[in-house]
Amino acid sequence: MPTSFQQSVIDEFRANEGKVGGPFEGGDLLLLTTTGARSGSSRTTPLGYVRHEHSLLVVGANLGGPRHPGWYYNLLAHPVVRVEVGTSSFEALAVPAEGARREELFAHVVRAAPGYGDYQALTSRALPVVVLEQAEPEVWEGRPREVRTLADKLLEVHTWLRGQVRQVRAEVEAHFASRGGGGGGGTGTSPGLGLQIRQRCLAFCQALEFHHVSEDGHLFPGIARHHPQLTDVFDRLAGEHRTVARIQGELAALLDGVAIADPPRFRAELEEMSAQLNAHLDYEEEVLLPLLADVPWPPVAPPVGS
Ligand SMILES: [Fe+2]
Ligand SMILES: [Fe+2]
Repeated sequence: MPTSFQQSVIDEFRANEGKVGGPFEGGDLLLLTTTGARSGSSRTTPLGYVRHEHSLLVVGANLGGPRHPGWYYNLLAHPVVRVEVGTSSFEALAVPAEGARREELFAHVVRAAPGYGDYQALTSRALPVVVLEQAEPEVWEGRPREVRTLADKLLEVHTWLRGQVRQVRAEVEAHFASRGGGGGGGTGTSPGLGLQIRQRCLAFCQALEFHHVSEDGHLFPGIARHHPQLTDVFDRLAGEHRTVARIQGELAALLDGVAIADPPRFRAELEEMSAQLNAHLDYEEEVLLPLLADVPWPPVAPPVGS
């Protein structure tokens, strides 16, 4: 729960297009909404931020106290966060910076907002610097231009999932390539597979789980009612969901700590995920898109009084 002071800041922020007076007058403030690591409920925190290229940086200063703030643990558990800044609101992937990049970004933050240097001086923990990245347009390549039907919607979600798994694989391959050829010539990056990969993969796994649970719970039973002859198709799709869920469970277990456990196994599981998932999405699109092409999206509300 936010404190009553935090809540008054949040209310003022939302009522005044992101501007807040008092101690925050003239400062850059955003609202970060995370999902509770343990509670699973959403929690909004007002935070100062510093811009860096196309991203926003927030710092787990916690007033220089000995522990990282709660929102930092939340975003390690649920990497997709909501950011409100000014009048805009968007989802972002939260990635804590590591190694040399953390040092570089923290120096950038301190140049813009020297108070963070004072907080750092109060504690022996390195204050986390978290990069909030808005979803990249290239991931959306190939999605329908306009979403007007349930078929478009399904294709849009699939396109995002395909893009995410492709991107995680590319990052993993780049990581192995950079470590393989250097003969131990490290570049100061983290020794394991980086947090960038961990956060993106976890976000992907959580979105995939949500998508398949909603297909199993709502979409498939809804279509099956109108197409009783497709029992075999739905049995096959449900079986594929179980296969994908099993691999997703393996991946999630390897992402359980802050560092990715067993990078070679992670890479192998990811390859398996990619193959199984892409085959599943292909088959699902082949059989379901024609059935959903006439279903308007978003759903049309029934007339009042019906
Ligand atoms: Fe699907
Ligand atoms: Fe599916």
